[in-house]
Amino acid sequence: MIDQKDKILDIKNLSCKYGQIIALSDINLEIYKGEIVSLIGANGAGKTTLLRAISDLKSIQEGQIFFENQDITKLGSHKRVGLGIAQVPEGRGLFTDLTVQENLKLGAYIRSDDKQIDDLEYIYTKFPILKEKKDDYAGTLSGGQQQMVAVGRALMSKPKLLLLDEPSMGLAPIIVEDIFDVIKELQSLGVTIFIVEQNAHLALKTSNRTYVLENGKIVLNGDSKQLLDDTRIKDAYLGI
Ligand SMILES: Nc1ncnc2c1ncn2[C@@H]1O[C@H](COP(=O)(O)OP(=O)(O)OP(=O)(O)O)[C@@H](O)[C@H]1O
Ligand SMILES: [Mg+2]
Repeated sequence: MIDQKDKILDIKNLSCKYGQIIALSDINLEIYKGEIVSLIGANGAGKTTLLRAISDLKSIQEGQIFFENQDITKLGSHKRVGLGIAQVPEGRGLFTDLTVQENLKLGAYIRSDDKQIDDLEYIYTKFPILKEKKDDYAGTLSGGQQQMVAVGRALMSKPKLLLLDEPSMGLAPIIVEDIFDVIKELQSLGVTIFIVEQNAHLALKTSNRTYVLENGKIVLNGDSKQLLDDTRIKDAYLGI
């Protein structure tokens, strides 16, 4: 069960700009340990900016970010990875001229423990095709296989909070299913997930709670199952 007292991420009054353009304004958002939380919104709403701000890949103008009750607002991206925040970026961000296994191992760069081989094996068990292709250049893989590498690489940092930016983008439904099966299994293993998803139906079906972002502002949030029946969501995002 999800304990509402057990907050893993707490974002307070966050604002973010690109030059004079306001990308996010006064964002308040909280995520509890063990949840899958999704973030939906139209193109340009600010979803990627928010994920990047959580990882310090984008600087913020105002607000605070707490991770496990620690103020991380001024911590750099590497330190945040070290605390347990990993990101699967939009567009995957693989090193296409490194092999699959080299890409996966890069995800473990902050670790000093000796369990990395076990985690590599876990990823190969979940995505057997990656084991077959472990010595191939990542750039030669299909889109779906590259997404598996991107997810695997993030897992190699042993995250407590996994941020996923549009993992289903451009993938065949059957591959999307594989990726989402792993996401659900990760939840059962104790990883908390924050997922940006353009497929609102999939996002609402998979997650416990959902936030809706419009023009850089959170306009709605709540239990995902209830939002599936909400006319505002149906009209704007589900096309029914
Ligand atoms: N590097 C940048 N420089 C200037 N403006 C940017 C930059 N990146 C994003 N923006 C602007 O910030 C706003 C939010 O962009 P963001 O990429 O966060 O949206 P998004 O919700 O992820 O969209 P998408 O669904 O297309 O991925 C948009 O208006 C976008 O044009
Ligand atoms: Mg985006």
